[in-house]
Amino acid sequence: MIDGIHGNPTVYLNGSWLPLSDAKVSVLDRGFIFGDGVYEVLPVYGGKPFRFQSHLSRLLRSLAAIRIQAPMPEHQWASLFTELIARGEGEDQFIYLQVTRGVAKRDHAFPGPEVRPTVFAMSSPFQRPAQTVRDSGVAVVSLPDERWLHCDIKSIALLGNVLARQAAVDRGAIEAVMFRDGFLTEGSASNIWMVKDGALHAPLKNHLILEGIRYGLLQELAERLQIPVQIRRIRQQEVAQADELMMTSATKEVLPIVRLDDQPIGHLQHRGSPGPVYKKIRQAYDALIDELRLARS
Ligand code: PDD
Repeated sequence: MIDGIHGNPTVYLNGSWLPLSDAKVSVLDRGFIFGDGVYEVLPVYGGKPFRFQSHLSRLLRSLAAIRIQAPMPEHQWASLFTELIARGEGEDQFIYLQVTRGVAKRDHAFPGPEVRPTVFAMSSPFQRPAQTVRDSGVAVVSLPDERWLHCDIKSIALLGNVLARQAAVDRGAIEAVMFRDGFLTEGSASNIWMVKDGALHAPLKNHLILEGIRYGLLQELAERLQIPVQIRRIRQQEVAQADELMMTSATKEVLPIVRLDDQPIGHLQHRGSPGPVYKKIRQAYDALIDELRLARS
């Protein structure tokens, strides 16, 4: 048994289905040696992938950005996910998919075309955020963003994110909210949203943040709910004085942030507790999940 993983789920590795404990890659895999690869994390509700097409498009964008040829045509990704979900445990799962540049003699430069990418995918039972967390909100800390300048690529090289997240955990918080040159970028593994005067504010979608699948989705939901959206550079000081803050990711869904650096967020009756804009967005997000569960496959 691997620490933190129950049982021995069947996983996909380079065209084979095998128990997780038998899934092995060479120590010369460029993912292991250089962090030379990309990944996706995709939630599944009621046995159906949520926003599959958006996740697939982002995977293809990430592969193209680091010049790895897509290892299979689009329709094969769909079959791979369908089979993974069928073999997975329970109705709600999350899928982790990773593609590296493959196994080759150690050399920073790319290997020749004969080296095939390593494709690994596994599904795990999805423990959605607990109702208590959704109701009471989470604490975060602010940290300087010390990552590289291609954060738009969903790279497996995540040392900057890992260190930021651990610094947050060390301070009793769930997430690190990062700032570069005094402006908000994102969380170590999430996008960050601010509410001010009834409008939803998000940082620019550029090379400094990962475009979360929930980034576009929250814009859609805000439009439907007639909440104005402002995409712009957001100063650190504004974040500390926000009416509401929230974070989004495949696994955290939408969570209200109620404390930043040990200070309560918000004003008046919502100070230190989830605000009205979060509640509306949360409800709309849950409705999408319910719709997916009810939809015919
Ligand atoms: N992380 N920004 C970063 C740096 C992330 O790692 C993530 C997601 C997001 C949100 O993206 P999405 O809405 O597509 O999940 C933003 C995943 C969940 C992870 O690394 O586990």
